Amino acid sequence: MFFPQFRARRIRGNEIFRRMVRETSLSVNDLVYPMFSIFGIGIKKEISSMPGIYQQSIENIVAEAKEVRDLGIPAVILFGIPETKDAVGSDAYSDTGIIQETIRALKKNVPGLAVITDVCMCEYTDHGHCGIIKNGDVDNDSTLDLLAREALSHAQAGADMVAPSDMMDGRVGAIRETLDEHGFDAIPIMSYAVKYASGYYGPFREAAESTPQFGDRRSYQMDPGNRREALREAASDIDEGADIIMVKPGLPYLDILRDLRNEFDLPLAVYNVSGEYSMVKGAAERGWIDEERVVLETMTSFKRAGADIIITYHAKDVARWLAGQVK
Ligand code: PBG
Ligand code: ZN
Repeated sequence: MFFPQFRARRIRGNEIFRRMVRETSLSVNDLVYPMFSIFGIGIKKEISSMPGIYQQSIENIVAEAKEVRDLGIPAVILFGIPETKDAVGSDAYSDTGIIQETIRALKKNVPGLAVITDVCMCEYTDHGHCGIIKNGDVDNDSTLDLLAREALSHAQAGADMVAPSDMMDGRVGAIRETLDEHGFDAIPIMSYAVKYASGYYGPFREAAESTPQFGDRRSYQMDPGNRREALREAASDIDEGADIIMVKPGLPYLDILRDLRNEFDLPLAVYNVSGEYSMVKGAAERGWIDEERVVLETMTSFKRAGADIIITYHAKDVARWLAGQVK
C-alpha cells in the first residue's frame, strides 16, 4: 500500500502521535558515567580536550559520584592514575592502589551507586601498554595472571562489576576463574569484547595518562576494517563467561553493535568514547551544533542499534535533559 492510501506523515504530525509510535526510548537507567581518580587532596584538574571531565582526588570523586547517583544514573566506571608506574603495573593490583582506595570510599559514602572498574594495565605501566612487554610486544599469556589479580583486587575492595578492556585473548576466562575461586562468583564481568584500535581514544589518554611510550595498540585491539571478526571476539568472551559485552567506540561502529544484537541475547554495552565527546563539545562551544539535540540523537542511535547500556561522558547532561523533558 503506497501513496495516496499510505501517508507516512499522518502519524508524524504532532508530538503526541510521535510519542505513541516512537520505536526507541532512552532512559537514565541506560547510562554509565566514567570517572578519573588520582591520589592527593583537593585535586580537580580539567582534561583540556574534554570540557567538564576531570582528574579528581578521592573526596572530589565521592562528591561528584553523589551528584551522579542523585541524577538517577545507576553506575560509574572508574579509571585510576597511580602515583608511580612500573614495567608490570604494580599499582593495578595493590590493595592500596588508587582504584582500590576509590572503590572503598565510594562504597562507604555513596550507597545506591554501582561501581564498575576498568581492568587494564595501561594506566599503571611505565611503557603505557595494556600488558607485560616481552620481545618488544605485549605478551598475552603472562598478562592474564596480572589482569586476574587486578580484577580480584577490585572485587576485594568492593567493586560491583569488573570491565576488562585490555583485549588479551583468554582474559575473561582467567578473570572468571580467579573471581570464582575466591568467592566472587556473583560479580559480573562486562567485557570490552569488541574494542577497535581507534584514533577516537586520543583525549582519554591525556585523561588517564596512558599513552603508549612506543608503538601502538594494533597488535591487540581490533582492526577498524573488520566486521566478521567482531562476532568471533564476542562469541569467545561469552563462552569464557562474560555477562555483558561491549562495543567500543560507539558512533563509528553502530553496524557492529547491530550485528551483535542480532547474534547474541545477552546485554550489550556501547562506549561513547572520549574523542566522540570532544568533537561534540568542540563544535557546540563554537555554536556549530545544538549540543542537547545532537547528544540525545546520538544516544538514541545507540539504543536503536541495540545497546542496553551506554557509557558516556555526557551522562550527567543526558540525565538532566531527560528529567526536563516534561511533555
Ligand atoms: C584502557 C582504556 C582505554 C579506553 C577505555 N579503557 C584507552 C585505550 O585503550 O587506549 C578509552 C576510553 C575513551 O577513549 O573514552 N585500555
Ligand atoms: Zn589498556
